[in-house]
Amino acid sequence: MKAMALFLERQEAAQAEMDSVLGTNDPAYGEEDKLPYFKAVLCECFRWQTVVPLSFPHVTNQDLQYNGYKIPQGTVILANVWGILHDLKIYGSNADNFDPERWLKRDERGWQWDNDLPDLYHLSFGFGTR
Ligand code: HEM
Repeated sequence: MKAMALFLERQEAAQAEMDSVLGTNDPAYGEEDKLPYFKAVLCECFRWQTVVPLSFPHVTNQDLQYNGYKIPQGTVILANVWGILHDLKIYGSNADNFDPERWLKRDERGWQWDNDLPDLYHLSFGFGTR
């Protein structure tokens, strides 16, 4: 809601794409590939102001080794989803900006989904079971 109010031109571009692809029909599952700009706006909303920045706490059910760290059973883990989704190494120096076009490249057919950028926005929904 916040992004769509602040960046009306992005909302209008996504709406224009939906109108041209779907006409008056509702979208169906499996049609998102036909709506790259819309998908990019959605991904960017989840990335830019992720709803649960530290996700939900999880607890280790056994001793673990991860990246050289020893993590004992029973440790509470908070995943820094905000940090991952604003990582300068992944999203570049404009990581803090709302920029749906970072997910896309443009060619003679118009906007295309850019498969080079890691598809991490789903981290907004958490990790596995608790
Ligand atoms: C923008 C939409 C949503 C976001 C970003 C979101 C995010 C999250 C996150 C981060 C978790 C914690 C997952 C984990 O343990 O790592 C979670 C759990 C959960 N969410 Fe959502 N959620 C959304 C929408 C919804 C909706 C619409 C429902 C139900 C109608 C829902 C129901 C639940 C339930 C029941 C859990 C607990 C699952 C479990 O621990 O077994 N969520 N959600």
